[in-house]
Amino acid sequence: MGILKPITEWATSPWGQNVPIHIGWFLIWVAALAGLLFLIVHAIYVRYFAKAEEFAGDVSLTLAAVLPPRIPRHSLTARLFHWIMAASMFTLLFTAFLPKVGVRFDWVTYHWIAGSVLTVSIVFHIIHASFWLDFWAIWPDRDDVLDAWKRVQRFMGKPAPPPRRFAKYPLENKLYHGAIIATGLSAIGTGVFMLFRVRTGVLPRNPYLFSDMTWGLMYVLHGLAGVGLIALVMVHVYFAVRPEKLDITKSMIFGSMRREFYLKHYDPQRWRLEMPPSGSNRTDREA
Ligand code: HEM
Repeated sequence: MGILKPITEWATSPWGQNVPIHIGWFLIWVAALAGLLFLIVHAIYVRYFAKAEEFAGDVSLTLAAVLPPRIPRHSLTARLFHWIMAASMFTLLFTAFLPKVGVRFDWVTYHWIAGSVLTVSIVFHIIHASFWLDFWAIWPDRDDVLDAWKRVQRFMGKPAPPPRRFAKYPLENKLYHGAIIATGLSAIGTGVFMLFRVRTGVLPRNPYLFSDMTWGLMYVLHGLAGVGLIALVMVHVYFAVRPEKLDITKSMIFGSMRREFYLKHYDPQRWRLEMPPSGSNRTDREA
C-alpha cells in the first residue's frame, strides 16, 4: 500500500478503517504533460534529426503493375467499430476529467452510458478479430524483433543492414495496441463493477458487493487506467494527424490506401493482400 500513498486520496470508512477512495487528481496533469512532452520531443526529432526511411530490397515492378490504385485496408465493420470506440472513449475522458478540473456538470449518467457502449464495442471487437480478421496481425512476431534490432543499431550509428518493409502493423503500433489493451481492459473491468455503485435503473444498486478497501482499490485502478488513457489517446491522435501518416488515417475513414503508399512502406510477403473481386471494396481477412 505504501507506494500508493503519494498518488491516492484516502478517507476513514464508517467502520473506522483507513481506505483509498480514488487517485490524486493531480495525476490528470501529470498524464497530460507526459503526453505533451512525448509529442514535442517526437516532433523535434522528426523535424531536425531523423534520417530518411530506408528498407531492404526493391519494390516488385510486376506486383506494382497488377495492383489496383487503391489497396483495401479496413472493412466497413472494422471502421465502424473504430469510430464508435473513439466516440465513447472521448466521451468517457471528458465526462470523467472535466468535472475534476473545475467544469461542473452531472457527468455520471453520460459516463456510465458511454462506458457501456465502449464495453459492448470491445466485446464485439474481440469476437470479430478472433473469427473474422487476421487475429495474429496485431501481435509482435520474430521479424518485428529482428528488424527493431537493426533499426536500433542503425540509429546508434552501428553498421547493420536496413530492415524489411512493414507487415500490416509495424512493431510500434503493435506495442501501442498492447498498452491500450492493458489500460482499456483495466478501465472496463473495474467500470463494470462500479456500475453497481450508481443508480443506472438497469442493474440493481449494491454498494455492499465488496469491502470498502476493495472498492477503494477498484476506484484507484479505474482512475490510473483512466489517466493512462489521457496520454495514450493524445499520442494516438498526434500520430493520426502527422502528415506522413495521413494515408493510414484516411484508410480508417475510406477503407483503402494509395497503391504507392502500400508499395513504399509494406512488404507484400508480410501483409498479404487478398484482393477482392473487381468493383468491390472489401477484404475478408483484415485487422
Ligand atoms: C476508458 C476510459 C475511462 C475513463 C478515462 C474513466 C474514468 C473515470 C474516472 C476518473 C472516474 C471517477 C472515479 C473516482 O471518483 O475515483 C470514473 C468513475 C466511473 N466510471 Fe469510468 N472511466 C472509463 C471507462 C469506464 C467504463 C468502460 C465504465 C463502465 C463499463 C465506467 C464506469 C464508471 C462508473 C460506474 C463510475 C463511478 C461513478 C461513481 O461511483 O460516482 N468507466 N471513471
